[in-house]
Amino acid sequence: MDNIDTKLSSLGCTLQFWHKKKISLVVGGGIAAYRVLDLIRGLKAQGAEVTVIGTEAATRFVTPLTFHAISGHPFYGDLFHPGEEGGMDHIRLAREADLVIVAPATADLMAKMAHGLANDLATAMILARRGPLLVAPAMNVAMWEHPATQRNVERLKGDGLVFCGPEAGALACGEEGMGRLAGVDTILEAARRCLEDKTLAGKHFLLTAGPTREELDPVRYLSNHSSGKMGWAIAQAALRAGAQVTLVHGPVHLPPLWGAKMVPVTSACDMFAAVMDCWETCQPSRSLDAIILTAAVADFRPVVRSSEKIKKTSSMTPMNIELEANPDILLELGRRHGAMENHQRPILVGFAAETGRAVERGREKLARKPCDLLVVNDLMEEGAGFMVDTNRVTLLDRDGLEETWPLMSKDAVGARLVEAVAARF
Ligand code: CTP
Repeated sequence: MDNIDTKLSSLGCTLQFWHKKKISLVVGGGIAAYRVLDLIRGLKAQGAEVTVIGTEAATRFVTPLTFHAISGHPFYGDLFHPGEEGGMDHIRLAREADLVIVAPATADLMAKMAHGLANDLATAMILARRGPLLVAPAMNVAMWEHPATQRNVERLKGDGLVFCGPEAGALACGEEGMGRLAGVDTILEAARRCLEDKTLAGKHFLLTAGPTREELDPVRYLSNHSSGKMGWAIAQAALRAGAQVTLVHGPVHLPPLWGAKMVPVTSACDMFAAVMDCWETCQPSRSLDAIILTAAVADFRPVVRSSEKIKKTSSMTPMNIELEANPDILLELGRRHGAMENHQRPILVGFAAETGRAVERGREKLARKPCDLLVVNDLMEEGAGFMVDTNRVTLLDRDGLEETWPLMSKDAVGARLVEAVAARF
């Protein structure tokens, strides 16, 4: 029951965010126009209101009636249509929208936008726009890679427009390459980021997440049940607040986070190397502000990794596998930070997943592992395990802080933890 409540509360937060947000969606004339119908549905499902403005070419792919039916609002396509504002639709639509999304942004539409042309309702509305504007391009790979298109993209980015995609993959024209419209979830997330307060702009977060795998042979490994969800939720919250995020992660079944630098690794040694590499790159310019280590790093690895599959023989029982200790990322960072002035070192946050007496064991861990904050959870508690979408955590610090948060969605824990870290900057 608790679980359902927290899931609903997380959904409630998302719905609250989008509630009555006004989106003007400009649809360009490309085959991907049919895919924006799902985008309209996704925006509406979150509580946003969508008005569609299409180019003449867009209506060759999807009819105005379809846009009207799916969005629940009249379709706008004619610059000279005497609308409610006496032919001033382009000004009203630009002014009243919380966000303008251009999807699919064709090569032609972006060329017009880059040069400030305004010879139809869509381009006139874009030119009249003062607030945030998100562009999701889609086209043939050769058109995308053409220097003229790339010049226009750079110019539009310079004008402050936010780009989402295109993505690589199979294209409608039969070719493979860059040019696919970004997925609906990616565009929704990009849209949300355009509207969030950028309280962490200029800050850089480094995170670890997920399990590590320690290979025994080409087919077997030692690992744990970590799903990576907690790390993903924290990274997402930091990205939404405008931070730059580097996410070093073990093997997980989660989609890459839009806008994050994703660094996939396999073993604890790989993870250690990737984190130290980032730390060493950033340290001279002090361009790292927080390090949050959520990964369930394997403490040990097999001393020998067999290059061939280990065969079963009758003399093998009991089977003994000799293990050696993995490097400890948190300990090493704590050691490095110990030699630095307070104001020069990033805030270091560790996680402790315990099974019983969690706070007490957390305190012991904090004494051993020199981090600024330790987030403790008890895996034996309902709703606080590895694979679930919720967590119940207690925050400990070196000055005796002990703050227990109620059972919440991992998204909510992530957002609150990012706030707690930001409060320490
Ligand atoms: N950690 C790490 N590198 C390791 C092991 C752990 O960076 N090789 C980090 C984890 O990401 C986490 C914190 O240290 O932030 C605590 O991890 P945990 O496995 O609970 O701690 P251990 O010191 O290994 O203690 P335990 O005996 O409970 O496993």
